[in-house]
Amino acid sequence: MAPPSSSSSTPTSSGSTTSVQVAVRIRPTTSQDAVSIPARFQRIVVHSTSHTSVAIDASSAAPATSGSSTAVATPTTPNAKKQVFSFDQVHSPDTTQHALFTSTALPLISRFLEGFNCTVLAYGQTSSGKTFTMTGVDLDASPSDPHNGMGIIPRAVSTIFAQARKLKEERGASWNYTIKGSFIEIYNEDLIDLLSSDDTGGLRREVQIREAKDGSIIWGGLREVTVRSNAEVMK
Ligand SMILES: Nc1ncnc2c1ncn2[C@@H]1O[C@H](COP(=O)(O)OP(=O)(O)OP(=O)(O)O)[C@@H](O)[C@H]1O
Ligand SMILES: [Mg+2]
Repeated sequence: MAPPSSSSSTPTSSGSTTSVQVAVRIRPTTSQDAVSIPARFQRIVVHSTSHTSVAIDASSAAPATSGSSTAVATPTTPNAKKQVFSFDQVHSPDTTQHALFTSTALPLISRFLEGFNCTVLAYGQTSSGKTFTMTGVDLDASPSDPHNGMGIIPRAVSTIFAQARKLKEERGASWNYTIKGSFIEIYNEDLIDLLSSDDTGGLRREVQIREAKDGSIIWGGLREVTVRSNAEVMK
C-alpha cells in the first residue's frame, strides 16, 4: 500500500507528534492470484520482519539474464539479497480488518473530533487491496464487530457517529452537531462531484478548488449532504 520510503514526523511545541504515518499491509494470496499471475511469478517476495519492517527477497525476483544491468543487487552472501525497508507500521497477511482500523484510522478520529483535518489515503498497485482495506466486505454487518470484513471507511464513519452521540450526551441540550458528507473523484486532472448527479439529472458536476484568503481550501459547487447514520453514508 505504500512506496518504500520513510515517513516524516515532526514534533510540535506541545510535545506530541503530528506526522504523516505510513502503514504497509501485505495482503494474503487469493485464489484469483493462482489464475491471473503467471506460474513463474507465483512467489511471495515481501515478508514482514517486524511490526515496522519488510524484507524484499531479491533472490525470488524473476531471474536476470546474464550480463543484464537491471539486476537488483550483486550479492556476495545470501543475506545481501534481502532489502529491508522501515515503515511506521507493517501488517502481515493475517491482520484483520478490525486490527488494521484500530491501529491506523482510530487514533485519527480522536484528532478529527478535536478539530484537526485528517486524511487516510490508500496507495498501491492494482489488486494490492486498497478497496478491500478501505471499504471491505460485510457492509451490512455491525461496524463494532471485530470479526467481520468491514473496512476502514464504514468503521470510521460509525465511530464518528458514536463519538458525536456520546459528546451530545455529555454536553446536553445546549450543544448540537451536524455531520455532512461529500464524495469527490479525482480523475486525471479533474475533480468530479459524485453526489451532484442527484440534483443535475444524471450529469456529474465538475468541482472548482480554490484557496481562500486565510489559506483554507474552498470546494466551489461541491454538494454536501447532511447525514445522520452510518447506513445513510454507506448508501
Ligand atoms: N487483506 C486481504 N485479505 C483477503 N483478501 C484480500 C485482502 N486484500 C485484498 N484482498 C482481495 O484481493 C483482491 C484485490 O483487492 P482489491 O480489489 O481491494 O485491490 P485494489 O487495490 O482495490 O485494486 P484496483 O486498483 O484494481 O482497484 C480482491 O479479491 C480482494 O478481496
Ligand atoms: Mg479498488
